[in-house]
Amino acid sequence: MLSGKKILIGVTGSIAAYKAILLVRLLIKAGAEVKVIMTPSAKDFVSPLIFSTLSKNEVLIDLFNETSWANHVNLGRWADVMLLAPVSCNTLAKMANGFCDNLLLAVYLSATCSVIVAPAMDEDMWHHPSTKLNIDKIKSFGNNIIPVENGELASGLFGDGRMAEPEQILQYLQDFFFSSKELEGKKILVTAGPTHEAIDPVRFISNHSTGKMGVAIAEEFAQRGADVTIILGPSNIDVSKNIQTVKVTSAQQMYDACINNFSKKDITVMAAAVADYRPQDFSLTKIKKTEDVLPLNLKRTNDILKEMGEQKNKDQIIVGFALETNNEKENALSKLEKKNLDLIVLNSLNDEGAGFRSDTNKITIFDKNGNEFNFEKKSKKLVAKDIVNTIIKYKNA
Ligand code: CTP
Repeated sequence: MLSGKKILIGVTGSIAAYKAILLVRLLIKAGAEVKVIMTPSAKDFVSPLIFSTLSKNEVLIDLFNETSWANHVNLGRWADVMLLAPVSCNTLAKMANGFCDNLLLAVYLSATCSVIVAPAMDEDMWHHPSTKLNIDKIKSFGNNIIPVENGELASGLFGDGRMAEPEQILQYLQDFFFSSKELEGKKILVTAGPTHEAIDPVRFISNHSTGKMGVAIAEEFAQRGADVTIILGPSNIDVSKNIQTVKVTSAQQMYDACINNFSKKDITVMAAAVADYRPQDFSLTKIKKTEDVLPLNLKRTNDILKEMGEQKNKDQIIVGFALETNNEKENALSKLEKKNLDLIVLNSLNDEGAGFRSDTNKITIFDKNGNEFNFEKKSKKLVAKDIVNTIIKYKNA
């Protein structure tokens, strides 16, 4: 699978360094040639002997010792790709600022090959503004970032910051080397996230959508060479710089942005959880508590997808989402027809690991030709691949 590919792994001082062991094993099994460099503090987490045994290559740590100097320029030129996994908060900050106080950083700074970075840190560190800035900075240098995952962290807390699993990193590398740019020149519109419908200056109505699924779909389209625009409701999820991002807050703003963009797009995927209702009246001042019962009148928002379905021409493909709790298939098929869609992606809240706030999803896709495609529960990134593959199959049918 990765036969003949030369991969230089850089391991830094993070508890996730143990996952790099499995990663090296998987890469060797996939036929890659692997060399490992470590920062001095990575040695405190895993022994270099493990990496040298698995990679069958000497593991380099120091820039120089009493008698020799490690040629960092050659290492960076030897590799087809340099994969830094895990990257600690400290190394990330050094990479963002051009520090060069160990061999790994010297190789990184002189590497002529592509660099892929898999960060790993505790949730609070991950969400710190300085980390965000550093990630943006190294992205702007052209580095590729494998997003962190949500789950149990070394601190015992649950949250964002886990390094991606070795299997996912392997998949990322395979896509990196081999995914064809089959959608080059195609214009794609994806929507993601919730909307916020303001009641007064401090309160709003919303839902539990995080935007993860829609962002994963946008990233997958971009990976395949498409020209992607994402219209993103309030969400903390990072979007790659090569995707044009339009940030919106309310259903009305999402409607305006969609209608502005839609007519020029070849494929539109409406993954956003748009509010169906908004407060009828917006209070300019904060509503004070007076009565025991406060009636709140709600008004229907525009059904964006339905309107796009009415406007679409015969060459455009529109994909909707249906999140259901009962009569799932029946409801999904009825939306497919009523909104004049080409495909609809159904996820049911009855399936464990599906829907909002989860890193995974379990979907069924129906197309307007009567086909049904069932998929197992998977990470949202892999679900995004299934969705894009199914859209391409439909387009080429
Ligand atoms: N959608 C939309 N505009 C809205 C509401 C929803 O474009 N105002 C889109 C969603 O992005 C999704 C699809 O419609 O792709 C299905 O949304 P959903 O709210 O589940 O369907 P509805 O048709 O609104 O039906 P119901 O809420 O009664 O289930």
